Amino acid sequence: MLNLFQHLSEIPKRVRNDVIKLDDYQMKQEEKEALNKIKELQQELAEHNYKYYVLAAQEISDFDFDMKLKELEKLEKEHGINDPNSPTQRVGSDLSSDFVQVEHKYSMLSLSNAYNEEEIQDFDTRIKKIIETDDFDYVCELKFDGSSISLTYENGELVRGVTRGDGVKGDDVTTNVRTIKSIPLKLRGNDYPNNFEIRGEIVMPFVVFNNLNAELEKAGEPLLANPRNTSAGTLKMKNSAVVASRNLDAYLYYILGSSLPEDGHVQNLNKAREWGFKISDATQLCKNLDEVFAFIKKWDTERHNLPVATDGIVIKVNSKNLQDNLGFTAKSPRWAIAYKFKAESVSTLLKSVSYQVGRTGAVTPVANLEPVQIAGTVVKRASLHNADIIQNLDLYLEDTVKVEKGGEIIPKITAVDVSKRHPMFQPITFIENCPECGTELIRKEGEAAHYCPNEDGCPPQIKGKMEHFVSRKAMDIDGIGQETIELFFNEGLAKDTTDFYQLTKEQLEKLERMAEKSAQRILDGLEASKKVPFERVLFGLGIRFVGETVAKTLVKKLHTIENIQQQTVEQLIEIDEIGGRIAESVVEWFSKDEHLELIKNLQEQGLQFAISDDQLEGQTDKLASLNIIISGTFEKHSRDELKKIIEKNGGKNVGSISKKTNYMIAGKNIGPSKLEKVTKLGVPMISEDEFLRMLEE
Ligand code: IVH
Repeated sequence: MLNLFQHLSEIPKRVRNDVIKLDDYQMKQEEKEALNKIKELQQELAEHNYKYYVLAAQEISDFDFDMKLKELEKLEKEHGINDPNSPTQRVGSDLSSDFVQVEHKYSMLSLSNAYNEEEIQDFDTRIKKIIETDDFDYVCELKFDGSSISLTYENGELVRGVTRGDGVKGDDVTTNVRTIKSIPLKLRGNDYPNNFEIRGEIVMPFVVFNNLNAELEKAGEPLLANPRNTSAGTLKMKNSAVVASRNLDAYLYYILGSSLPEDGHVQNLNKAREWGFKISDATQLCKNLDEVFAFIKKWDTERHNLPVATDGIVIKVNSKNLQDNLGFTAKSPRWAIAYKFKAESVSTLLKSVSYQVGRTGAVTPVANLEPVQIAGTVVKRASLHNADIIQNLDLYLEDTVKVEKGGEIIPKITAVDVSKRHPMFQPITFIENCPECGTELIRKEGEAAHYCPNEDGCPPQIKGKMEHFVSRKAMDIDGIGQETIELFFNEGLAKDTTDFYQLTKEQLEKLERMAEKSAQRILDGLEASKKVPFERVLFGLGIRFVGETVAKTLVKKLHTIENIQQQTVEQLIEIDEIGGRIAESVVEWFSKDEHLELIKNLQEQGLQFAISDDQLEGQTDKLASLNIIISGTFEKHSRDELKKIIEKNGGKNVGSISKKTNYMIAGKNIGPSKLEKVTKLGVPMISEDEFLRMLEE
C-alpha cells in the first residue's frame, strides 16, 4: 500500500498543492475536534469528581467513570496533551519525587489554645479592648486533626500545594495534592480571584485508616498510631500512586489574597464552596459568646459521628477588616483561638511491658496496665508502638502514667507522672533479643520497628506463615486453622508448609479431638489445594509486601515462579504497581536457599507454580479495580465461569455486598435479603448479557 507521500508524488503539482491544503485543513479540523473532545471529557470528569467527593452525590457508575477516564487518557496521549490539572493526573505516578522547599507567601502560623470557657472569655475581652466595639460576629469551625496545607490557585487552576513545614518554608507536594479527589484542580464558575491562596487540612477518614490497619494486622506488620500521623506521612510519600490509593480528603478553612470577593470570612468560604472546595457544613456564624458556647457543646458530642478526626473548635472574628486591625503576635493571629476538646485521660500504673512478635517478625511493645475505665471501656493494655515512643516518654517500670484514648482508637500513654517515681524504679529498655526464639533483633535504617530476622526458625513467624498459607484467600485448606496448626506444631507433625503435604491419616487420627471425618477433611482439603491457581500460591508463600494484588500483578506479568525468581529489583519496579519496597523484598526472599528448597518441595507435591493456559488466554484490564458480586442462576454461563471471566478481565469477584461493590451480575432467583441490600446500598444490577456486552465495548 502507498503511504500518503508516495500517493502525492503521483499527482500533478497544482492538484497536489490543493490536496495538501485540503489534507492540512482536514487534519487541523480533526485535531480541533479531538482537542474539544479532550476539553469536554476533562470538564465532565471533573464535574463527576466534584459531585462524588465534595457533594457526596454520585451520578454515574464507577465503571462508566473509568471508561471515560480511559478514553481521556488515550486521547491526551495521542495528542501529546500534558495538562497537570487534568482528571487523568489524579491517579498519581510511580516515579519517585523529591520535594522542593518553597517559601510561604504568608507565614503559616499556628493558633493559641483555650481549654475552658474562661479562656475564651479572656480572648473575647482582649479583642473588644483592641477594636473598641462589641458589634461584630464570630465564626465557629471544626478543628480538623490532620496535616495543614496551603494551596495556590492562578487563573482558576491549582498551581501549587505546600505543607506547613516550619511555617516559613514548606515542602512542595503538588503532585500528591493532585491525587486528592476533593481538591479542585480547576475551579467552577468565574468569579474567583485571579491569584489567591487557600489553606486547609488534609485528613485521612477513619474508614481508610481502619482498613489500612486491618491490612497491616493481617500482614503481621506494626499498626499505625492515628489518622493524623498517617495523613501527614502519606502526604510526604514519594510515590504519588500510593498517595492516590490512600483516599485522603481535604477541608479548607482560610482564604488569603489581595482581592477576595467579600469582607466576611464565612461569606468568602461560601464563595469558595461554589468554586468547588470542600468547606465543612458545620461552619457557623455566631453573634455572641453564648452562641459560641452552644456550638462547642453541640460538637463536643456530635464530632463522634464525623467521618474524620477533629480535636477542637476554632473561633475566628468574621470580618477580614477587623482581623487586619487585630493583627498577629509572633506565633498566632489575635483574631482566632482554638478550643481543644478534652481527651478523656486517666492515671494508672504501668505493670510491665510485653513484646509481641508478628508473622513478619515485627516486634511490638505493649504496656500492661492496672485496669482503668476510659470513655466507657476497661483498658488493660496500651500499644507502645516502637522503641522511639518508649524513649520519648522516658518510661520506667511501675510508673504512674496518663492513659488516653488517642484519636478515639487505640489507648495510648500520653505522659508520665515523674513525681510518683520511686528512686528504685528501673527504666524500660527495649529488648535486644527475640522473646520467642532468642535471636538478636535488628532495626533497619529508617524503620521504627525492631524485627526478629529468624523468619524460618522463630515459632510465631513460622506458625503465622503456616496460618497465612492455609487461609481462605491463599490455599484455602478446609479443616486447618490456627488451633490445628498449634497442635501440629507442638506435636512435631508440621514445622513448615511443605510438611502439611506429608501428613498421613494415621498421624492425624492420633491427635487429640481429631475424629476420622475431620482427618479425611484435612487430607481432601490438601489434595484440592493442589489446583489452587498460582497467584494464590504465591500470595500464600507470605513474602513481605506481596499481598493479594501484588501477587496477581506478578503472575499476570511474569507467568512462572522461575521468571519471578530471576527478576532484579530494577526489572521488578518497571512493573506497574510494584514499588522499590516490594521489589527489594521479593528479590531478598528468592535469594535464600531455604526458600528455593521450599518451592522445590511444593512443586514436587504438585502445587501450581505457573499461570494456567486458560488464564493466559484473553486476559484484559477491562474490569480493573471493580468489585463484582454474582447472584442467582444464569443461562449462558455457570457462576464459576462468570467468576473466571471477571478475574481474567482484571476484576474481583466478591462474596458479599458492601458499599465497595461496583456491580451485581443478577441472574434468576436472587434471595430477598440480597436484593434488599443491593437496593439499599444503590449497587447497580446488570444482567448476564449486559455484563458480557460490557466486555465487548
Ligand atoms: S485557621 C493563622 N481553622 O490547626 C492560623 N486552623 O493549631 C490559621 N486547623 O495549623 C489556621 N482546623 O493546621 C484553622 N478550622 C480551622 C482548622 C485549623 C484545623 C489546624 C491548622 C493549624 C492548626 C493550628
